[in-house]
Amino acid sequence: MKGFGVAVLMFMLLNLAITCNAQLRTGFYWGKCGKNSVEGLIRGVVQARLQRDPTVAAALLRLQFHDCFVTGCDASLLLDGPKSEKTAFPNLSVRGYDIIEEAKLLLERTCPVPKTVSCADIIAVATRDAVFLSRGMNYRVQTGRRDGFVSSAANVNLPSPFITVKASIDAFKAKGLNKTDMVLLLGAHTVGITHCPLIFNRLYNYNNTRTKDPTMKDTEFNAWSKLCPNPSSTNPKDIATLKKNKPIALDQTVGSIKTSRRSQRSPRHRSSFRDRPIDCWHR
Ligand code: HEM
Repeated sequence: MKGFGVAVLMFMLLNLAITCNAQLRTGFYWGKCGKNSVEGLIRGVVQARLQRDPTVAAALLRLQFHDCFVTGCDASLLLDGPKSEKTAFPNLSVRGYDIIEEAKLLLERTCPVPKTVSCADIIAVATRDAVFLSRGMNYRVQTGRRDGFVSSAANVNLPSPFITVKASIDAFKAKGLNKTDMVLLLGAHTVGITHCPLIFNRLYNYNNTRTKDPTMKDTEFNAWSKLCPNPSSTNPKDIATLKKNKPIALDQTVGSIKTSRRSQRSPRHRSSFRDRPIDCWHR
């Protein structure tokens, strides 16, 4: 079940820690917000959003990855500023900032002590909830992260969608993640949206051949070319999007990212899921 896979991805995502002090724990916020359940409040926000937009799980998965890959899971992606991480090119299409903000505002209004809950924890909990509520697996999230104060576009070293598998392996390795982790995490591309200009090349002019990528099956081509029919479009807003009311399991973005495709094809990179304890990333 793909939803399950996506949920397990989150274990791995939380496992992005290179250095890790065992200070995170489940239930870190118990009793810290009066009689209210911090995780219950976050889940309420995510649930309401999901009812309006079933693509929320994909948005939050990507948001968490983009935050964690750069200077750890410290919510530095959320900080505003003329040259903050948010302004870096790969983050311009990240969605879901407003969901984290809504949850943060609710917690600030509800908890007796201000600034009780970190944004980094809100991201981790909200993403888990979005995965679970989209028919993925439920899992415990350890909390107690602190938010970072430094956010610089110059630190954003996210892999480009056009890099080779080797370069991608190296980028993940630099974060302490091995090939298995990488392949597993790239499985997140089974959900979500992509912008059509990113896949026109594979659909209509692969390596300047004026035809599709030969490794793409006809069924795949037919589906994608219906979603992105206009190869001459330069409109960055053209989006191949998740159909309304589809659950998380819809295979959507997977065909779009070259690295994902290549790494899935390569037998070297086939791997099975491994259960690992959730790690922490406490700064
Ligand atoms: C080599 C690494 C990666 C590359 C090059 C990559 C690249 C991309 C690109 C280009 C998009 C489309 C963005 C758009 O058109 O708006 C995308 C979407 C997405 N990515 Fe990745 N990605 C990578 C790794 C990951 C990882 C590790 C995760 C999560 C664990 C992830 C989760 C997602 C999700 C869920 C979407 C859909 C987002 C949405 O619906 O708004 N990606 N990625």
